[in-house]
Amino acid sequence: MIFNVITLFPQELLGMMSFGVIGRAVNDQRIKVRCFNPRDWADNKHRRVDDRPFGGGAGMLMMYDPLYRTLKAIKEQDADTRVIYLSPQGVPLKQAVCNQMATQGSVTLLCGRYEGVDQRFIDQHVDQELSLGDYVISGGELAAAVFIDAVSRQLPGVLGDETSAQSDSFMADQLAYPQYTRSEILGQSGVPEVLLSGDHQKIAAWRAAQSLVMTKQRRPDLLEGTSEGE
Ligand SMILES: C[S@@+](CC[C@H](N)C(=O)[O-])C[C@H]1O[C@@H](n2cnc3c(N)ncnc32)[C@H](O)[C@@H]1O
Repeated sequence: MIFNVITLFPQELLGMMSFGVIGRAVNDQRIKVRCFNPRDWADNKHRRVDDRPFGGGAGMLMMYDPLYRTLKAIKEQDADTRVIYLSPQGVPLKQAVCNQMATQGSVTLLCGRYEGVDQRFIDQHVDQELSLGDYVISGGELAAAVFIDAVSRQLPGVLGDETSAQSDSFMADQLAYPQYTRSEILGQSGVPEVLLSGDHQKIAAWRAAQSLVMTKQRRPDLLEGTSEGE
């Protein structure tokens, strides 16, 4: 899958893509992360891409023209890419959205900076706005990194067999079950006996029950509309 990223901080974004599961996915060419810096499409000698908002107010906005030229260059190579603006005004990014995005061949992620982006660019060129949550961060790069990570985990071969995404939280609208590793005894604290039994059926049943308990306690909203939530 191809992730085109429009960002004023390409090195920082690529740094976040260089280690762990995602670093391996890049090295194995299961995903491609290509950065496009709007400064490279600025038409002034200072490579300026921001200006003051009409009507006044704090801060600067990313201007339409450099963004337009950047996107045009991307679409010349990748005409059908889906354009997503990471934005606090977007719909919250949920696992179901990530799973669906993993079926796209290519997405283009616009990372805002300053006070954001000229609304006309959003209206004319953005297919979807997605938010990390109800808080404001200083730029879209962290949000793009989260998006790329969460979507890539759903692509074939990105997680090894031993770490299937199927048992992750949210995959079945529930939280994951608790897990334990060595040491078996930590002071007064042991490990649930069933996990040491070697009985895989019993272990699976225990885990399913624990998932449900955890979800009912912490995120009952996930169960609304399911038979478990009635
Ligand atoms: C400082 S923020 C601008 C916030 C804007 N003035 C507002 O109040 O909605 C700069 C950029 O960070 C990114 N950003 C901030 N919060 C975000 C969130 N919750 N989810 C996704 N991106 C976010 C967006 O790309 C945004 O354009």
